[in-house]
Amino acid sequence: MAVIELKNLTYHYPLSETPALQSIDLEVEEGEFLAIVGANGAGKSTLCYTISGFIPHFFKGELAGSVNVAGMDPTKANLGTCVQKVGLVFQNPFNQISGSKFTVYEEIAFGLENLGVDPQEMRERVDEIIRRTRIADLRDRSPYALSGGQQQRVALASILVMKPQILVLDEPTSQLDPIGSQEVFQVIKEMALQGMTIVMAEHKVEWLAEYADRVLALSAGQIIKLGTPQEVFSSSELPKHGVGISRYTQVARRALQENLWLEGRRMPVTLDESIEGFREIIP
Ligand SMILES: Nc1ncnc2c1ncn2[C@@H]1O[C@H](COP(=O)(O)OP(=O)(O)OP(=O)(O)O)[C@@H](O)[C@H]1O
Ligand SMILES: [Mg+2]
Repeated sequence: MAVIELKNLTYHYPLSETPALQSIDLEVEEGEFLAIVGANGAGKSTLCYTISGFIPHFFKGELAGSVNVAGMDPTKANLGTCVQKVGLVFQNPFNQISGSKFTVYEEIAFGLENLGVDPQEMRERVDEIIRRTRIADLRDRSPYALSGGQQQRVALASILVMKPQILVLDEPTSQLDPIGSQEVFQVIKEMALQGMTIVMAEHKVEWLAEYADRVLALSAGQIIKLGTPQEVFSSSELPKHGVGISRYTQVARRALQENLWLEGRRMPVTLDESIEGFREIIP
């Protein structure tokens, strides 16, 4: 069942003549992990805002077409209702911090506190998320006195703890180190396997190839490709639109020129696909 349905969606920011999103048709199934890729300015954040209701409630502008998310029309529902069903992890983690809490622990508990969740349940949920996002060492620190990557983990934890039906993440690993990035991908994948629907704007194609179910590539507000990571990332069109390709694809393309890759064999996007391809040619 589709939990996100966008039909012929076009959006203009206020006073902008060029649409930031144009004629977008998209359906995302429950429990699916959809990745959004695209160059700077392609419309990734705008799409994240539209799915989570920040457009048109926070960013005004002109929205045409239809949006249905978790059984509601976020353009008609109020933002309070939207945020309970759809959690958005902002591109800049600084924007996520409430500004009213002194410790990371309190910051993560803040949303549950507002919902009036029982204190015992609240403690259990916050402790579990702190453990899963591996930020126990930050628990008593001020949310403001953290590095960018630490803040990014706290921002993620503060949304995950709410257990939204749909989780929208806007470049959640942009400031994380390689191990931190992989940990985030793992946590997100676990959430998807438990039924949470994930939409993630992200540039790290190798990790997306490994973890995402489908990939949507945007360019200048339009969908240029939508399919499995293999279909999208092996496409030779992507670099023309400023989308990076997997290093495994890069190696195979070069190997093809050097006669080290079978002509006609599909381009790999993951390490396993790459090894499979080389096994065929190297005895
Ligand atoms: N508040 C705004 N007002 C007017 N135009 C905006 C606003 N925010 C973004 N835009 C424009 O909308 C388009 C899409 O921007 P968006 O932020 O969605 O891109 P993005 O893919 O998230 O880029 P990045 O990789 O840099 O985060 C761009 O042309 C941008 O200039
Ligand atoms: Mg963005």
